[in-house]
Amino acid sequence: MNNNYCIEFNDVLAGYKDFMILNNLSFQAKRGCITLLLGPNGAGKSTVLKTLFGLLKPRTGRIYLDGEEITGLNQKELLAKGIAFVPQGRNLFGQLSVFENLELGGITLGMKTTHERIPEVLAFFPRLKERLNSMASSLSGGEQKQLEIGRALLLRPKVILIDEPSIGLSPLVVQDVFKLLRKLADQGTTVLMVEQNVKSALKYADEAIALESGQKVLQKDAADLLSDPHLERLFLGAVQVNP
Ligand SMILES: Nc1ncnc2c1ncn2[C@@H]1O[C@H](COP(=O)(O)OP(=O)(O)OP(=O)(O)O)[C@@H](O)[C@H]1O
Ligand SMILES: [Mg+2]
Repeated sequence: MNNNYCIEFNDVLAGYKDFMILNNLSFQAKRGCITLLLGPNGAGKSTVLKTLFGLLKPRTGRIYLDGEEITGLNQKELLAKGIAFVPQGRNLFGQLSVFENLELGGITLGMKTTHERIPEVLAFFPRLKERLNSMASSLSGGEQKQLEIGRALLLRPKVILIDEPSIGLSPLVVQDVFKLLRKLADQGTTVLMVEQNVKSALKYADEAIALESGQKVLQKDAADLLSDPHLERLFLGAVQVNP
């Protein structure tokens, strides 16, 4: 255990029924940094996030948050410890308003605290502030992703787990999402992000970890990886590198 690390996986074996996906996976993610999880389809990237969020329980191995073991805790306990998860795809209540979606995000906090915190979250998202009473399904894809991130921020999380936020968003909106995550990391939040949009994401990340078959095959400084002339060749067939 090292105290610079916010998240630590030690020899984690986890999977679905009898089928193991994470094969004694070990890695660390530093506090206040964006760590990018890369790897081919099926490598186990989303499974890492699900395991951290208590949706899967490790068979063996240990997981630490800020040096404290959190292996096997349930979602409620993990939320209370400051872990928030923004899964892949759309995860809003489309028929409810922006405001109501935010209220639901604060369900573990109680209504009073939630209402106190909503303005703080909206300060990050001027567009959501303008659309507060609109139905979530009427927002653009980028606005919906902002709302999902905003809902996670209500918890004032220590850690944000975010799975492929760029899917379905135009390049400019993707940059906005990455910039926001960068801002949060600079303010001390630890971000663990899965992203296929490798080149863009590396510009905003601090470190990159590549997985293959549930094992770590590389952990490298993001800037070093970005400037590596062999980036595309290194990842050919392993990580899709967008032009
Ligand atoms: N609920 C589940 N039940 C059984 N197997 C699953 C389940 N979810 C995922 N898997 C399997 O686990 C493996 C890893 O899946 P995972 O979703 O972690 O991959 P990934 O790296 O996120 O891939 P992608 O880039 O396609 O999102 C895959 O072979 C997948 O089929
Ligand atoms: Mg995935």
